[in-house]
Amino acid sequence: MKKILVTGGLGFIGSHTVVELQNEGFEVVIIDDLSNSSLDVLDGISSITGITPKFEKIDIKEKGKVQTFFSDHKDIIGVIHFAASKAVGESVLKPLHYYENNLNTLVYILQEVVGLPSSNFIFSSSCTVYGQAEHMPITESAPVQAAESPYGNTKQIGEEIINDVCKVDSNLQAISLRYFNPIGAHPSAKIGELPLGVPQNLVPYITQTAAGLRDCLSVFGNDYATSDGTCVRDYIHVVDLAKAHVVALKRLLEGDNRSNFETFNIGTGIGSSVLEVIKSFENVSGQSLNYKFAPRREGDVTEAYADTKKANDILGWQSQLTLDDAMLSAWNWEKNIRNIK
Ligand code: UFG
Repeated sequence: MKKILVTGGLGFIGSHTVVELQNEGFEVVIIDDLSNSSLDVLDGISSITGITPKFEKIDIKEKGKVQTFFSDHKDIIGVIHFAASKAVGESVLKPLHYYENNLNTLVYILQEVVGLPSSNFIFSSSCTVYGQAEHMPITESAPVQAAESPYGNTKQIGEEIINDVCKVDSNLQAISLRYFNPIGAHPSAKIGELPLGVPQNLVPYITQTAAGLRDCLSVFGNDYATSDGTCVRDYIHVVDLAKAHVVALKRLLEGDNRSNFETFNIGTGIGSSVLEVIKSFENVSGQSLNYKFAPRREGDVTEAYADTKKANDILGWQSQLTLDDAMLSAWNWEKNIRNIK
């Protein structure tokens, strides 16, 4: 029995990670409060893998329910913790909601994880902890900068909480994965990203515009100090990102980690501008996208892309899929959910 708990396992990155875990023979239990996900995702996962993971609807803010869950599942050997709110703009308007939802819940989960016979823990962190880094590509030793938003702050504080616990509890083995920009969908088009309302992120906005749900994409700023004036990011295919979680988990299970709290950048190492992402979409979809230039968006950094050497050399993980692969999978997913042929 290799039972893994995936919190937020019906969300975008969580669901793709559940697929990869099941493909590798792990038994998965998902807890999710369905606040930003749907039960249909379970069908997608079972249709891809042939296995329906166990699921319990639990809001992790309810500490008693978390305690009961863990006392019923003492044989869990690893926890991958995705459950969290993730909209940067919303976090500015609702800071207390973000601190409660992302940090209280982390504490409640950790309080149970440290009591397990096998305390292996993977945390969803973000490149947002680096802010506008001084040097590109960004290494893990780049300084963590003052957070731009309560959301970003929850990722920084979350890492500090885990690190503090690791210092006094050598039983806890933790890895924090700092994601760059996750995009794309499973190649089967059976699971993917399902943003609530108007998408805040670039790729779902592109695919919804192409699908006719939005009139026109606004490209936020064309006067940045980059090759074409638009912002540069490191867009990582969600399937590659999901696989990084499995590799990190195995590292802990096999005792290969060098300290009980490690951090790794998870990106491709390639920076792409907004215009390059649009070009990739047009190339793989065969259609042109309606877009216009608009003023800069507050809080956007000019560029952020990963130095992936540590993940490549120490974690033994490397991204395999290209920006075109990711854009094609995102478009196939959008077409599938909108019934576009
Ligand atoms: N962009 C547009 N138009 C849009 C949406 C985005 O031009 O409609 C641009 C942004 O200005 C940015 C790029 O596309 O230059 C990527 O924007 P996203 O919103 O897709 O991603 P971000 O890099 O802003 O945010 C991501 C994650 C956050 C995380 C942040 C860390 O979504 O969770 O990286 O930098 F906090």
